[in-house]
Amino acid sequence: MTSSNLSSSSLSSPLRWVAYTLVMALLIAASAWLTARMAPDVLTVSNETIWYAIRASGNVAYLLLAASTVWGIMLSSKILKRWIPTAVALDLHNYLSWLAIGLSALHAALLLASSYFDYHLLNLFVPFTGPFKPFWVGLGIIGLYLMILTTVTFYLIERIGYIAFHRIHALAYLAFVGSLLHSIVAGTDTPAMAPVYLATGLMVLFVTTYRILSMGQSQSRSSN
Ligand code: HEM
Repeated sequence: MTSSNLSSSSLSSPLRWVAYTLVMALLIAASAWLTARMAPDVLTVSNETIWYAIRASGNVAYLLLAASTVWGIMLSSKILKRWIPTAVALDLHNYLSWLAIGLSALHAALLLASSYFDYHLLNLFVPFTGPFKPFWVGLGIIGLYLMILTTVTFYLIERIGYIAFHRIHALAYLAFVGSLLHSIVAGTDTPAMAPVYLATGLMVLFVTTYRILSMGQSQSRSSN
């Protein structure tokens, strides 16, 4: 993929994503308000409910990150080009990444509301400082930072240049591996989620191998 491909994408305006996020926040607020009016009991949130929400948001965040990673690698290997316009594929890649970031942030923030865990705000920002499996949760924190870095720099391509963007974007592999290890070791649902972790991990490995092999092929073609 070239820098001209990227800059011709319909995603050049971050304002569009701010608008999407605002619409989503409004919809969530409206449905929460309606639910609270129709069933006031749901407002009494137990500690167990929060714990389920931490786990559910973590699992959905992981699935979104895996989808974004696989889609991104397919996008750069040009597998999708034949079927989907690059701008649309890029939009989806970005959208999945922002959703993964949003869900991961919610997943982490909910820890502050849980009395099962003794987390403080600083523990969520500084890796390896928390009270629960600090190393493995630290990998999740680093994964989230890398997700933010690789997604935000997309909007800075013009300023930092395509080569720098490309190098930074390679950190997405680390974000995926860090988050995967975090999810497997810190998770309560790992026995149930194991097939999902295995399938998504293998998918990332498969498309990465395909990408490396296709890069090698196009290099040898251009040198002939
Ligand atoms: C600030 C960053 C993060 C913090 C502080 C954090 C913290 C935690 C904690 C404490 C748990 C254990 C919950 C439990 O099962 O009882 C957990 C599990 C999990 N986290 Fe994170 N996490 C962070 C980022 C992420 C990211 C970036 C992802 C994936 C995109 C993620 C996905 C998961 C998943 C899938 C689980 C397992 C859920 C389960 O099986 O119960 N987390 N996280």
